Amino acid sequence: MSLLGVNIDHVATLRQARRTWEPDPVWAAAEAELGGADVITLHLREDRRHINDDDARRLKEAVQVKLNLEMAATDEMVAIACQLKPEMVTLVPEGRQEITTEGGLNLIAQIEAVREKIKRLNDAGILVSVFIDADIRQVEAARAVGAKVCEIHTGPYAHIFHARGRETEAPEVITELARIAKAGEAIHSLAMMFNAGHALNYYNVQPIAALPHVRELHIGHSIISRAVFMGLQAAVREMKARIMAGAAAVKMPATEA
Ligand code: PXP
Repeated sequence: MSLLGVNIDHVATLRQARRTWEPDPVWAAAEAELGGADVITLHLREDRRHINDDDARRLKEAVQVKLNLEMAATDEMVAIACQLKPEMVTLVPEGRQEITTEGGLNLIAQIEAVREKIKRLNDAGILVSVFIDADIRQVEAARAVGAKVCEIHTGPYAHIFHARGRETEAPEVITELARIAKAGEAIHSLAMMFNAGHALNYYNVQPIAALPHVRELHIGHSIISRAVFMGLQAAVREMKARIMAGAAAVKMPATEA
């Protein structure tokens, strides 16, 4: 069964729209936990556009489940993480112009630099995940840099799922699912943990929850959007129910990528 990581950055984005104190992402984390979140994720961006350093510190104090800090693989962020000591760091690529994380890390292009950052994080007792595309070469590179966890980018699957009318039997959707499944198998066979996330929502989450070996699903925008109408505890509870039903009911993709 997959665990649910709730990304609460979007609550801080709303706060920053007015440069004020509310809504507080720490309250969001507490509500998400009460709804059953297994992991709370925050992304401390270089430009501090939503979560800031004080939020990170307060979240570390308040969160009682696993805390996952998303960040770029920079010296500044590694130093912050080593001091904050979240249970997990997820390394992501970061672009100043992007609205959200746009693609996976290209680890092949930066093996030595990332390996050195992961070693520093591991030495501080932090588990490190890398956010990568569903590409076997990137999975192998994740192993080479010393990551213990890979989060596979589900954005391309989510995009095609909605473009094809939410049809899990559409060939392109089957292809994307098979690509993610294949990456998951490779991650598992290389003794790493398989997480997945990005652009998952209440409609497209179930086939991902059904994949073998998948451990944590990381979801933000969709849960916070639904929380506007039904409250965050209920929105998290509903997502967990869909994940559990998906894991039990959805059959595996039939073709290879
Ligand atoms: N996983 C990673 C690595 C991300 O960068 C994000 C976006 O912050 C998410 C998951 C959650 O994506 P979404 O907000 O589309 O659910």
